[in-house]
Amino acid sequence: MLFIYASMCGIIGYVGNKSAVQILLDGLTRLEYRGYDSAGIATIDNGQFRVLRKVGRVENLINAANQRNIGGYIGIGHTRWATHGVVSEKNAHPHCSVHGLFSIVHNGVIENYESTKEFLLSRGFTFESETDSEVLANLIEYHFNKEQDSENKFLKSVQKALFHVRGTYGLAVLCEDYPGEMIVARKSSPILLGIGSGEMFVASDASAIVQHTRDIVYLNDREIARLTPLDFSITTLHNENVDVVKCELDWHVEDANREGYEHYMLKEIFEQPRALENAMRGRFSDDLSTAKFGGLRMTTRELRQVDRLLFCACGTAWIACLVAEYLIEKYARIPVEVEYASEFRYRNSPLDKNTLVFVISQSGETLDTMAALQEAKRKGFRTLAITNVVGSTIARESDGGIYQHSGPEIGVASTKAFTAQICIAAMLALYLGRMRDMSFEEGILFVKALDDLPGIIERVLAQSEKIEKIAEKYAQCDDMLFLGRQAMFPIALEGALKLKEISYMHSEGYPAAEMKHGPIALISEKCPCFFLATQGHILAKNIANIQEVRSRHARVIAVAAEGSELVDKFVDDLILVPDVHPALQPIVATIPVQLFAYYIAKFRGCDIDKPRNLAKSVTVE
Ligand code: AGP
Repeated sequence: MLFIYASMCGIIGYVGNKSAVQILLDGLTRLEYRGYDSAGIATIDNGQFRVLRKVGRVENLINAANQRNIGGYIGIGHTRWATHGVVSEKNAHPHCSVHGLFSIVHNGVIENYESTKEFLLSRGFTFESETDSEVLANLIEYHFNKEQDSENKFLKSVQKALFHVRGTYGLAVLCEDYPGEMIVARKSSPILLGIGSGEMFVASDASAIVQHTRDIVYLNDREIARLTPLDFSITTLHNENVDVVKCELDWHVEDANREGYEHYMLKEIFEQPRALENAMRGRFSDDLSTAKFGGLRMTTRELRQVDRLLFCACGTAWIACLVAEYLIEKYARIPVEVEYASEFRYRNSPLDKNTLVFVISQSGETLDTMAALQEAKRKGFRTLAITNVVGSTIARESDGGIYQHSGPEIGVASTKAFTAQICIAAMLALYLGRMRDMSFEEGILFVKALDDLPGIIERVLAQSEKIEKIAEKYAQCDDMLFLGRQAMFPIALEGALKLKEISYMHSEGYPAAEMKHGPIALISEKCPCFFLATQGHILAKNIANIQEVRSRHARVIAVAAEGSELVDKFVDDLILVPDVHPALQPIVATIPVQLFAYYIAKFRGCDIDKPRNLAKSVTVE
């Protein structure tokens, strides 16, 4: 039996003194980057549910809603990213219980879905969809029918239903018999409350509600909240009191707007000078010879005891870990291991007792990365997180960490978050290196290079038109290799990932010399190569690889450092970037590959901010 899981979806909820429908639709529009197979809303209007669901983009839902007069001051909404099975209106959320008493939006996976459905079917419940979420709606109605406590009947029915299920959830539920109340709960799928004046908001991430309030409360796992227009309460599923921690978002709604750019991705590429300033702000020592971090919660003496670092992450964040490995091993002389988070959690790696575990996650909600963090904690390792979302699950579950302060990254393809992560990796290399063998003088030079970095990035961004012209020449290729040595190898991987995920062009990243050991079989006039060749001391080696590729009639694009004009005679297209401190070359070289991928995708007419099959935060395994 094929069944449908809810998964990395967007959730919005409202209860207050305004019409809910527009608040829900605006929120879903902001959440659409999280998943956009289908979308829906439900309000309670004069004591009755008004439910509207549409397949495809949120725009389809908005158009349908504009043709109806959907009233109500309480409502929930959902954008869906299907993991299994068909995308259809009947599988879209919100789902109602069989007698229409409850309506639910759910993000996550109910693992004991089938047995629960059998249990309910045997008691006369019927279903219209194949989703696990509809089972939850009926299970709540089942417990509601049996609940004796009339005052808290709604809340208790949800609690008892959640005792019954195994799996993950971030959910919001409405009940026709309780039109002024919303119940919200979470386990592994992020849910936050937005606190307004005479109104309350619920969302799966803050971008959906930041225009209404910046005062938020994140639910923790196995917590449940009851919201009314004037108040909210949070307990555990067992009605135990919890410490409510209020956060204030550190960005504003205009940060989450496109501000005239054609795509969020392009805006975020051009935001990088400011994002890098934010990543570095307040993080240099008074004598400017090293970095400093307030959130590691480790003393210098404790950090001196660390004899190995392990970095775990997924996707682009995993590539940032590779850059961290090169930089920390070179400048701090500490052995570093890098693992895919999804691999680490099952690999049972033999680690020294003084290993410090880092996870990197822009969203702070990636389930594989969260699982790796939990595995490291289970083994007793101290865990630190580099993340962009204040109060995110990973930020709260780790023992300390470093916030990126990149602002919201809406484009599905990570850009400013990645360069902020590798900038922080460079600062970490400096910080740890200055606790070991790095001299005061080296530290001063390192900090100066970091301080100059935003201006350097502006200079590279100024070449965007040139890079656009180069991209147009390669936009119709089917394959491309990205090649680089040492710390440029991860940037080759990032270039390939960017191209794959937004232009759907097949592309691979390799260590440049490794190309001879197999991938060279792919080289032809149909498979161009993109070289990251910024390091002067191995430029001759890269030129040798370029010549091997050119001799097989492949076209070559190269990024090299200013002063390496000689490269021009060996390649078809050359992008020169400022010659910076070696530790910062990965950041500088990233800008051309981001712009190149962006313009290729644009020439190929791709949906750059919402690439097919992708979602911004992968909260499934
Ligand atoms: C990046 O371009 C991708 N969209 C994706 O690989 C992403 O980096 C990965 O899913 C990790 O996300 P996180 O940083 O939020 O954990």
